[in-house]
Amino acid sequence: MKGKRILSGVQSSGTLHLGNYFGMMRPALSIQEENECFYFIANYHALTVLPDPEALRQRTFNVALDFLACGLDPQKTVFFRQSDIPEVQVLSWILSCLTPVGLLERCHSYKDKLARGMEANQGLFSYPVLMAADILLYNSQVVPVGKDQKQHLEVTRDIAIRFNNHYGDILTIPEPMIQEEVAVIPGLDGQKMSKSYGNAIEIFGEDKAIRKKFMSIVTDSTPMEEPKNPDTCNVYKLFKLMGTPEECEALRAKYLGGNFGYGHAKQALFEKYKEYFAEARERRSEYLAKPQLVEDILQDGASRARKVAQATLHKVCAAVGLE
Ligand code: ADP
Ligand code: TRP
Repeated sequence: MKGKRILSGVQSSGTLHLGNYFGMMRPALSIQEENECFYFIANYHALTVLPDPEALRQRTFNVALDFLACGLDPQKTVFFRQSDIPEVQVLSWILSCLTPVGLLERCHSYKDKLARGMEANQGLFSYPVLMAADILLYNSQVVPVGKDQKQHLEVTRDIAIRFNNHYGDILTIPEPMIQEEVAVIPGLDGQKMSKSYGNAIEIFGEDKAIRKKFMSIVTDSTPMEEPKNPDTCNVYKLFKLMGTPEECEALRAKYLGGNFGYGHAKQALFEKYKEYFAEARERRSEYLAKPQLVEDILQDGASRARKVAQATLHKVCAAVGLE
């Protein structure tokens, strides 16, 4: 076995955005060579927000396209749909019987979603238990996620430790892998970029619509002639993720020099974005033309993932007395 067992997932609850890419996909994809990676599309999790059936199917396919376009190599990485591995639901139930309600009540993500007016369904509440099952089922050692998922990783560790204390050393205790320097990618309004907050810029989309988004990034009201502070500017923060050090330095100098408006900065950002994702965009249209190939990749991933899932579940069921 090479390197470590790495696992991560993305919900198919909307279109993937730059926050997903820089917070999770880029770091996850950059370690495919040396490790044994398992990446999946969390469509059971997407069901917590009840998209209509056709939308859920379509978004799941789109997430697959986005991952493959961004460089997921299905030869190296096990890539699958969460719902193709029913074992995860059995493990989720077993883990839920060891999970104190208070642990879930403290989760920020749940509290944030309620504060934003989402219905408090049981799926949303026990979301972190299913996530723990996702991670523990594949004996994952390292989980690349954005900073907003850190608490869910702590819940996973907590549940796994409880399980092992009770039943013996069976589950692998995972570590999060968080890119501190890009920890939270800001959205159009400067808050965390998120599909559910209406402030996201998609990774892939039609030029005109994407440009409009870049142009609507919130900036301060410093007049055009005056020098501007790049470090507090959302446009510059996004540029820094894609630009080379020289390009960033040049843009920085323009901010500090004055006579450079935010409109200019946004245009520079849009052009950088187009260049940065040009290759991925091309790959995406190739996969888009071959939906059966995408399906075959996911099926193959599912059969490889399921072998590992069944072995873990068997150990767990034997330990708790279900077998
Ligand atoms: P969303 O908040 O848009 O629903 P998800 O919760 O599906 O996004 O996130 C998928 C992955 O992308 C997670 O690992 C998450 O931490 C990461 N991620 C999402 N938004 C951001 C962001 N704004 N900054 C950094 N990482 C992010
Ligand atoms: N909750 C994660 C998110 O919203 C998605 C997810 C589900 C996940 N299961 C996971 C991430 C297991 C990492 C590991 O981003």
